[in-house]
Amino acid sequence: MWKSIHPAPPDSILGLTEEFKKDQNPQKVNLGVGVYKDEAGNTPVLHCVKAAEKVLLETQSSKSYLPISGDPAYSAAVQRLIFGADSEVISAGRAATVHAPGGTGALRVGADLLHKFTPDAKVWVSSPTWANHNGIFGAAGFEIARYSYYDGETKGLDFARMMNDLETVPAADVVVLHACCHNPSGVDLNEDQWKQLAVLASQKGWVPFLDFAYQGFGDGVDEDRFAVEQFAAAGIDFLVASSFSKNFGLYNERTGAITVVTPSAAEASVALSHIKTVVRTNYSNPPAHGGLVATIILDTPELRTMWLEELAGMRNRIVTMRKSLVAGLAAQGVDGDFSFIERQRGMFSFSGWSDDVVSSLRKNNNIYVVGGGRINLAGLTTSNIDYVCASVAAAMK
Ligand code: LMR
Repeated sequence: MWKSIHPAPPDSILGLTEEFKKDQNPQKVNLGVGVYKDEAGNTPVLHCVKAAEKVLLETQSSKSYLPISGDPAYSAAVQRLIFGADSEVISAGRAATVHAPGGTGALRVGADLLHKFTPDAKVWVSSPTWANHNGIFGAAGFEIARYSYYDGETKGLDFARMMNDLETVPAADVVVLHACCHNPSGVDLNEDQWKQLAVLASQKGWVPFLDFAYQGFGDGVDEDRFAVEQFAAAGIDFLVASSFSKNFGLYNERTGAITVVTPSAAEASVALSHIKTVVRTNYSNPPAHGGLVATIILDTPELRTMWLEELAGMRNRIVTMRKSLVAGLAAQGVDGDFSFIERQRGMFSFSGWSDDVVSSLRKNNNIYVVGGGRINLAGLTTSNIDYVCASVAAAMK
């Protein structure tokens, strides 16, 4: 059967990691995939995770299936984290949260759920967006459309054009938004802009679908939920795909959640019944380990404090690397103003490096950057920053 079938192209992000792993050059640097690295270039297991795993090892008495929707304690912990413990959404019981395998799994469960009821809707993604948004919503059967977002001239947000585009989106279409730390640009809306967007969503009746994969990497866990809070306050239908891959470093435990927020508890319970059918016909029920670990950490005050400190450490190291990159490029005499890198948030920056620069870095310097020029700042360390800046200077000559 496969003789006449052409191979699929490698994934634009994870395919790069495969190439990076094969590369034998000891100077190689991976600025591709969005995975946190510490100053030594490692992706460590957080101390709070190790401590929770110890508790789990001693107390876990069964590996029997979880419910289709996952452990209820996990769903409750996720809701407190993404909405804030005092949120009216929680007290009113108007959200349904289901443990999904990672942020990608959460997006796909949400996409399949929406496609069941609004197959003719379009899904609007920002221009640009995380490449896999196109893949996920396309695979669920949706037609994809784009709204303006990033302005290559200012290296910032083109909010006026974004709003103009979203004014035209019909009711029941789906608008994918990055709740914080926009992937790939690192450019976010400010608080006033989020407020305006929530008003627009409730006026127009389109369905916001918030990708919330980087909570805690912007300004902090509480600060980063500002966008979610605005849509919650609007009392409209919306979805949140959240992930513990990055903020708990639980990448390979596939620990995420899909949350459907509705105007009433009765609607949330209907939504939950349908999410369960989507899950049951796909992977049946979620993997347990990551969710159990995250729940222990979030529900144990000392471990939660430890987690917040470790998360702040990751966030602050990335901010330091943003500053070092801007200073290093200037020191190498690279033409242009790169101060925008310091204004962007989260793991990523749209560097503005052309395709030629990206391919020269790869070919001549073994530095891996995602096509389009997205760089993962967490891939930089004090040991490789001079090499990276000198390589960029050479590639841009
Ligand atoms: C990324 O954008 O690099 C991460 O979200 C990892 C992935 O799955 O693409």
